[in-house]
Amino acid sequence: MTRAAADAVVRTRSTAETEALGERIGRAAAPGDVVALWGELGSGKTTLVRGIARGLGVPDRAVTSPTFVIVHEHDDGRLPLFHVDLYRLAPGDVPSTGWDEALSSGGVTAIEWPDRVATLLPAERLDVHLSAGGGDEREIKLEAAGPQARRLLEAAAA
Ligand SMILES: Nc1ncnc2c1ncn2[C@@H]1O[C@H](COP(=O)(O)OP(=O)(O)OP(=O)(O)O)[C@@H](O)[C@H]1O
Ligand SMILES: [Mg+2]
Repeated sequence: MTRAAADAVVRTRSTAETEALGERIGRAAAPGDVVALWGELGSGKTTLVRGIARGLGVPDRAVTSPTFVIVHEHDDGRLPLFHVDLYRLAPGDVPSTGWDEALSSGGVTAIEWPDRVATLLPAERLDVHLSAGGGDEREIKLEAAGPQARRLLEAAAA
């Protein structure tokens, strides 16, 4: 039996725990996987991407919050990681960001502020919704659409 979608909720109490969640996703990631990270400023999206990078074997320190660059490509891990941050994207700018290339290149794509391009997101993806609780607590809801994303979700929630 296969189900079209699945979800899970993970609560973290520190930056390290959110990174560890990302690391499990990165270890399980396969070519073409897409992770969309939804959540307010400071909710932990980049922190989770840092974990994904670590799980892919990208050296530490490489993942930062891109301020003016929309796509950061990391080629030094097991698979290429495209870290996309759409915060500053103006409507209509999508074709010039190079992120289509990211999706088709056989790498792993992690997208911050996916709401900027909501209708253009690939249907098969892992959605990660982060929300801040009190202090260092974060509630992280994972929703998988498609078999690849389900595998990621199962690895993440394990
Ligand atoms: N449980 C936690 N998980 C993740 N980050 C946490 C946690 N507790 C505290 N933090 C802190 O919250 C901040 C998260 O910052 P981060 O850059 O990851 O957020 P972001 O969602 O990418 O923000 P932005 O929208 O500005 O890109 C960091 O300062 C981090 O240390
Ligand atoms: Mg960020």
